[in-house]
Amino acid sequence: MSKLGILGTGRMGVRLAQLFAGLGHQVILGSRDLDRSARIIQKLDRDNIQPGNYQEAAEAEVVLPAMFLRDGALDTLEPLRHQLDGKLYIDISNPFNADYTDFILPWDTSGAEQIQHRFPKTRVVGAFKNVWWEVFDAPQFGNTVSDVFVVSDNESAKAEFLKLVAGSPFRYIDAGKLSNARTVERMTLLSGELGQRYGYFPRMNYKLLGEPWSVGKADRVAEAIALR
Ligand SMILES: NC(=O)c1ccc[n+]([C@@H]2O[C@H](COP(=O)([O-])OP(=O)(O)OC[C@H]3O[C@@H](n4cnc5c(N)ncnc54)[C@H](OP(=O)(O)O)[C@@H]3O)[C@@H](O)[C@H]2O)c1
Repeated sequence: MSKLGILGTGRMGVRLAQLFAGLGHQVILGSRDLDRSARIIQKLDRDNIQPGNYQEAAEAEVVLPAMFLRDGALDTLEPLRHQLDGKLYIDISNPFNADYTDFILPWDTSGAEQIQHRFPKTRVVGAFKNVWWEVFDAPQFGNTVSDVFVVSDNESAKAEFLKLVAGSPFRYIDAGKLSNARTVERMTLLSGELGQRYGYFPRMNYKLLGEPWSVGKADRVAEAIALR
């Protein structure tokens, strides 16, 4: 069991508080407005979620800021810099602009990299970026479990994260280095657009399909032989 501090009580913050509390972790749901956090927690009716301010949430062993970069997340976290040092920082940010038509960051960087750069002593793991908020309310699509792409330059932080989420209703895909967040984050621009076009928004997610390479290869070799 770990103690996790979530900073922000919006769509993602509250749902992730429920997800981590459901896995048995202690959660501090931090808000700029303590009353707001207390009111939300009262409705959630869970013993292991406590209200707090951002400072209190940042004191937890693991931190998960759930606010937008466009709303000044980096500057909001600045006074908490020393509390973040050395910690596992679960980064869920997608650098959307205010009308969700584009990103506020250029193609050659990502929210995850900006955070790691600004707070170099934290151990940033990017996750849940591709999961739209309402998916948490019913994570499976029929019998299908969807994917969470996980990126980090710190393998032990990635392993810690995977341990924390063990038992949750997603499949976690090791999506490699932190700079792969450039792709993972932009995949949400695409899923957002496709979700709107096909009437799924905001209940859609990614699932990587595949088969073991050797099996696929054996089939292809057999096909090639049959064609000769
Ligand atoms: N929505 C999604 O489907 C989704 C999916 C994946 C990733 N994300 C990422 O998750 C993060 C949070 O997204 P969200 O959809 O949960 O956002 P949201 O519903 O707008 O909530 C953001 C929270 O940030 C806090 N906050 C701090 N400073 C703020 C400011 N200046 N203005 C407004 N709010 C401020 C507020 O909590 P307090 O008032 O309690 O302090 C607010 O409730 C973003 O980085 C987003 O890219 C979102």
